[in-house]
Amino acid sequence: MPSDVPGYDFVVIANRLPVDVSLDDAGEPTWTRSPGGLVTALAPVMASTSGAWVGWGGAADLELDPFDVDGTELIPVVLSEDDLEQFYEGFSNDTLWPLYHDVIASPAFHRPWWDAYQRVNRRFAQAAADQAAQGATVWVHDYQLQLVPRMLRELRPDLRIGYFHHIPFPPLEIFAQLPWRKQVVEGLLGADLVGFQRAGDAANFVRVVRRFTDLTTRGQVITLTDANGAVDRHVRAAAFPISIDSHGFDDLARTDEVKERARQIRHELGDPEFLLLGVDRLDYTKGIRHRIKAYGELLSEERLSPQSTTLVQVASPSRENVGAYQQLRDDVELLVGRINGDYGQVGHAPVQYLHQSFPMEEMAALYLAADVMLVTALRDGMNLVAKEYVAARSDDRGALVLSEFTGAADELTGAVLVNPHDIDGMKDAITYAVHMDARDSRKRMRSLRRRVLGHDVVAWSQDFLSALNAVPIGGPGVSG
Ligand code: F6P
Repeated sequence: MPSDVPGYDFVVIANRLPVDVSLDDAGEPTWTRSPGGLVTALAPVMASTSGAWVGWGGAADLELDPFDVDGTELIPVVLSEDDLEQFYEGFSNDTLWPLYHDVIASPAFHRPWWDAYQRVNRRFAQAAADQAAQGATVWVHDYQLQLVPRMLRELRPDLRIGYFHHIPFPPLEIFAQLPWRKQVVEGLLGADLVGFQRAGDAANFVRVVRRFTDLTTRGQVITLTDANGAVDRHVRAAAFPISIDSHGFDDLARTDEVKERARQIRHELGDPEFLLLGVDRLDYTKGIRHRIKAYGELLSEERLSPQSTTLVQVASPSRENVGAYQQLRDDVELLVGRINGDYGQVGHAPVQYLHQSFPMEEMAALYLAADVMLVTALRDGMNLVAKEYVAARSDDRGALVLSEFTGAADELTGAVLVNPHDIDGMKDAITYAVHMDARDSRKRMRSLRRRVLGHDVVAWSQDFLSALNAVPIGGPGVSG
């Protein structure tokens, strides 16, 4: 692209746009902001440069012109019903998702899904190539778009390309199952910097590169060569643990409205002695069944009293067209029904199960109301719920039970760490957390808050983008 072609200096590519779309009565699309962590993270960058965000609008066959939201140009990518079935529900969420999460569910390998994945990745790459200014920085996000870095580099060799992988990157022995493993690795190597949540994920990736390519690696750096064996460019693979808008969340949870709502929640639940809380997307990686099973056994063994204990489980609807998610919903609801049937009383259910999503204010109130937060994922890239709970607890109270298999466990060492597969161990950890003495709990929470408030999502994006700028740009003359 000639240098006088206008375009954006900073382009984000993510599967979803940071807005929710709905159709009004006249069938016209209307947008509402969905300010996730990524939006907050990128706000300072977007404010200081000309920025665009390429992504899907969240509904099938939505053909919309680009539009501006708070100074960022949103560039919608159209996904058809077929794309959704094969690219999103199929390859992204029924092949890659289970494969990258320790094969907790069986990944399905279907060639038409792979075709759709390539087709849709090309569409995202083309949309970004059309929008980026000469020499722009492009930041590609997550497992749905692993082929985009290479496709984009082929279209626009002048760009600086970063990729961040929000979910775990699996060990070689599991990744090796993927019939298209080499293409995926090559896709990612189109980036200058490949970021992961944990050092272990980056190490898994480098090992996979060594196994499925002929490239040389030295620590975090992979060296790409041209057809004559001369050094072409370098790719760095490193960990950049993501965070949340910690101060925004802290402020929200300090408001009188949220504090009052927290009191009200406890009251509406019958002022239990112990309020336990789980908050997850209804996903089989989250260990919801394991946690509820442990809780049910604690009630049955009378280590917790069903009269004075309540577990609130928020399970927000997710990927409802994928079979494994439908099965999980049935399993969880059966289990909840059994426990409430066995241990409930008129007017009191020991599990309050909410298959719904709630606004941030209500979440902050729930966090503030809960004595113990249960995060028992079987595998999780990071787990931002754990960080939200900590950010909400400016009272330095509450206890966090946290699975070792989350990225967050690498940082949040003040939590009570558990192996969610070990139901007895989890029961002991929950009992310990419920009865934790005030001094221990305050000490732990202070250390957790130092970490969460000291490293927020803006720091995360700045770390990533400055590392991306530090990677020597490719082309002939790069020194090995
Ligand atoms: O954790 C990966 C992720 O893609 C998040 O970015 C997202 O919030 C969540 O999973 C749910 O994803 P989706 O509803 O787009 O499938």
